Order: sequence, then C-alpha cells, then structure tokens
Amino acid sequence: MAKKVKTIGIMTSGGDCPGLNGVIRAATRTAINDYGMRVYGILDGYEGLVDGRYMKLDWNDVSGILTCGGTILGTSNKADPIGQKRVGDVFKNCRKMKLDALICAGGDGSMNISYALFKRGLNVVGIPKTIDNDLEGTDVTFGFDSAVQSACNAIDAIHTTAQSHHRVMIIEVMGRYAGWIALYSGIASGGDIILIPEIPFDINKVCDKVKERHRHGKRFSIIVIAEGAKPFGGELTVRQVVKDSPDQVRLGGIGNKIAYQIENLTGIETRVTVLGHLLRGGSPTAFDRILATRFGSESVKAAAERKFGYMVALKGTRIGTVKLQKAIKELRLVKPNAPIIRIARALGTSFGN
Ligand code: F6P
Repeated sequence: MAKKVKTIGIMTSGGDCPGLNGVIRAATRTAINDYGMRVYGILDGYEGLVDGRYMKLDWNDVSGILTCGGTILGTSNKADPIGQKRVGDVFKNCRKMKLDALICAGGDGSMNISYALFKRGLNVVGIPKTIDNDLEGTDVTFGFDSAVQSACNAIDAIHTTAQSHHRVMIIEVMGRYAGWIALYSGIASGGDIILIPEIPFDINKVCDKVKERHRHGKRFSIIVIAEGAKPFGGELTVRQVVKDSPDQVRLGGIGNKIAYQIENLTGIETRVTVLGHLLRGGSPTAFDRILATRFGSESVKAAAERKFGYMVALKGTRIGTVKLQKAIKELRLVKPNAPIIRIARALGTSFGN
C-alpha cells in the first residue's frame, strides 16, 4: 500500500499576487481538518527551502488572512535550487520536516523548478499563480482577476482626466510576454487602443486611430499597453536586468516611448501612467478568493492521493489536475485571432495593426 501522506509543506514562490493567503489558509485547514496532516509553511519560496527556513502552521496561524494581499509566508523570484546547485539542501530540509509532500503555488518559473525537482524525486503538487495568466493547462490563474480589477479601477479614474483635458492617456500594465491584463482591463474599461505583446503595433496606425476619434468629436483617447508590447520588428523595452533571477529581464517604459511619438505625430498632449506593482497588491476579488480557496483545498486532496508531478487547474467550472510537464511546455499567450479580439475590433477597438 502507498505510504500515507502525513506531513505537507506549503510555499508561495515567484512574484506575489492577490489570493496567495487564501491558498495558504485553504491548504492548511483542509490538511488539518480533512486529513489530520501536519503542515509546515516554507518561508520565501524556494529560497527558504534551500536555507531551511520554515514554520509550523496551525489552524489559527491562517486566521484572518483570506482578504489580505501578499503572502504571510513571503516569496522570492530569485531562488533556483537547480541553477544554484542546491538540490541537496532541498532534500535535506524536506527530511528535517519529515515532509511527505510539498505544495508550491507559483507561476511559470516556479512550476519549471517544481517539475525539475519532481524528476529528481520530490513529491510536489503545483498551484497556478500569477497576475499574468500565462500558465498552460489551466483556464485561469488566481491573481489575474484581481489585477484586471485594479487596472480597471485606475483606467476608469484616468478616463475622466482624458475627457476633461482632451488628452491621450496611456496606461501601462504588467504582462511580459502575455497581454491578458491589458486585453481584459482594456476591454472592460472601454479602452480605445489596446497594445499587447502578441500583436506587434505600428505607431502610425495607433496615431490614425487617435486622429480618427478627433475627427468624430472624441478629443481624447485611452491607450492600454502591456509592458511587453513592441512595434513591428522592434524589441522589448527592458528596464533592468536582475542577474541572480532565473528570468533576468524586467520590463517597463514602452508607454513613455510611444507617448513621445504620439505627441510628435498627432500634436495632441499625451500623458502616461505606469501601474506596475500596484496590480500585484491589494485585497483579492471575490472570484480570486474562491479560486484560491478551491485550488488550496484541491491541492491537498491531490497530495493525499499522491498525485505528485501534477498541478491543480481550472477547467470550465471544475477543478482538475494537469501534469506539470504539460503546464510548463509553453506560455499561454493571447491568440491574435481569438473571438474576444474579434469582438473588440468589431466594437471599434484598435490593436495598433
Ligand atoms: O510575472 C509576474 C510579474 O508581475 C510580471 O508581470 C512582471 O514583469 C514581473 O513579474 C515583475 O517582477 P519584479 O517584481 O521582480 O519586478
């Protein structure tokens, strides 16, 4: 008979996002209540696992955190036990805690690390987390809905200044390789132009749209742009290179670049707001609280059933599991001919192409 899972570890890894605390709370309470397991919280993601930093989690330790942004366990997007040759420390610390399974809530980078460790013998279950919504294998990651809502609130507020001052207002949102946040917040807030990494733009087409609106009496325009958007044949706008991070590139600044060009080409005053890390914080939306709760609970069930090397995932309305190997195969990007893009175009939104 397969060994019973008696002790689990839970960690949050990679960039933080709203909903992480909901996952920790649900996983801890499900483990204690439904399975009588002992639970350890690993501090600061894989960094804490290699350094041996962890705490025991009891029922009351996860009380009052569901509505809070961030993660009570801390996180890191720099640790990489494989690249840093510290796999031995991972197993040593798992033995110290007597872990039978490890639950890791993380994005693409963390799921890659989890899979690599699974192949080396770690009993790991993944939970898809990221505001970018770019993980394959799940319909949606938790954190995305909250980020879209935060972006929407900001764009709605900026809309009035655009109208009052007859300006072009550019709102730059996160989204390195996938434009989901820009696409959804742009559509939900009635953006006039949405620029995403998957659809390279032509600045002249962007200006044509602004000028066309002017001709029709709309003397302002709202442009929502993902930090990873780039012109045809152009490059990503890199803000910083973080040498000790598995994904070293940090983006930012494309909004300012195109603002300068738009002002020059149209003569219309243009302003930029970069939302950046604002989108990663704040209280999770009700949708994300529920998704995080379902993911956290189901991940413990998967661990109890020894479904290691899997990630919990939302498929339609049901939570299932998908092999980590499949989840990390490629990034889930926006398809340029997706129905939602066609609908937005039909409603007059320009994608700058
Ligand atoms: O992957 C999540 C994400 O928030 C991206 O959208 C963004 O480009 C990146 O992380 C920012 O990373 P950091 O917090 O290290 O600046």
